[in-house]
Amino acid sequence: MITVHVLAQPVVMGVVSSILGSHPDAVVGTRTNNAREAISLHYTAEDLLIIDDDVLLDVPGLVASLAELGCRKVLVGAVNNAEAARRALLMQATHMIDREHLSEELAEIIRGLNPAPISTKPWLAAIYSAKGGVGKSTIALNLAWALALQSEQKVALLDIDPLGDIGAMIQENPGATIIDLVEELSSGLAEDKALLSLYQVKGLGLTVVPAGGFARLDQDVHPDDLEKVLAVLKGSHDYLVLDLASGLTDLNLAALDAVEKIFVVASPERVALMTVRRSLDIFRRLYPAKLELILNRADSDTGIEEQEVEEALGIPIHYRFPSGGSAPARAANRGKPLILADSRNSLSRALVEVAQKIVGAREGVHRRPRHWFGRGG
Ligand SMILES: Nc1ncnc2c1ncn2[C@@H]1O[C@H](COP(=O)(O)OP(=O)(O)O)[C@@H](O)[C@H]1O
Ligand SMILES: [Mg+2]
Repeated sequence: MITVHVLAQPVVMGVVSSILGSHPDAVVGTRTNNAREAISLHYTAEDLLIIDDDVLLDVPGLVASLAELGCRKVLVGAVNNAEAARRALLMQATHMIDREHLSEELAEIIRGLNPAPISTKPWLAAIYSAKGGVGKSTIALNLAWALALQSEQKVALLDIDPLGDIGAMIQENPGATIIDLVEELSSGLAEDKALLSLYQVKGLGLTVVPAGGFARLDQDVHPDDLEKVLAVLKGSHDYLVLDLASGLTDLNLAALDAVEKIFVVASPERVALMTVRRSLDIFRRLYPAKLELILNRADSDTGIEEQEVEEALGIPIHYRFPSGGSAPARAANRGKPLILADSRNSLSRALVEVAQKIVGAREGVHRRPRHWFGRGG
């Protein structure tokens, strides 16, 4: 669906309105014959602004300002008039339409601009660090939760750290662990039944699969078991976030193979950087296109600047998460994700912003944040 705004004199306005009134893929946004007003409004990149050349004749000085509007522009005028064509260029119009053919050409343009259907392939990301205690689980839990809030699609959070603590961080009866799920699937339980045994956050479209079994995870969950679990979760979820253990176990490598993004978490501390660097030397060869560096506690005064982090790791910082002070630990102690327990905390805001970006990139104009009335405060 495209929102079409119109800056036009009554004749063109009338034609455009009647076309849009019956168009299944377009809605009318703002309508005005005042160029100054049109320039002062806010548009999104997907919006279309129809501009009647007649409106511009009295205000030639404003034509260049139209170029700065964030939307797509179509100029309606006389196509064989050199002055009109110059105005179209100056405002960076994507199309110019002749008045004579307004109806047909506008319908054609809207058809062409209509966004592609939403991706049906699930988005998978792993949160990894060779160093323990850098904030992997905090980021995984809150990012998954924020994704579930930003999208009406379904999100799964899968903990595959043998010492994983995702379940404890939300203090809920966590339902089946990944080990239970593997057992259920290998004993022939139907996928939909197995899915029912998992913990779901009510109304949020978020499924949480804790690791649970401590040291047993390494023995009981093999790489091909993980593949089966991922296949089941991918069949019923649109976003999957995996919280990984430190270290390059077979299970981790299977997870890293399966995802499209690997968020490598580091903090501005010499020991963390040395440890993370060693893993990146391997990852750069295995997964060059998947790596994105998260600098956690990026604003901590550790004496190490961002540039030094990038030089030490040989990869640019993709996301910066600030220190949340004691709030993340307090939230975990209360069994709540930070973004719920303290939504104004700077780390919460940064996490939500990243989730917005991820959902925006995947769902684009289809994006609908969820109305969720879950536990706040
Ligand atoms: N940006 C941050 N600001 C403040 N505390 C943080 C931040 N990130 C993580 N923490 C805290 O650091 C500790 C370790 O984080 P955790 O997510 O468990 O790390 P990991 O999973 O990498 O071992 C926890 O107490 C957590 O609350
Ligand atoms: Mg952890």
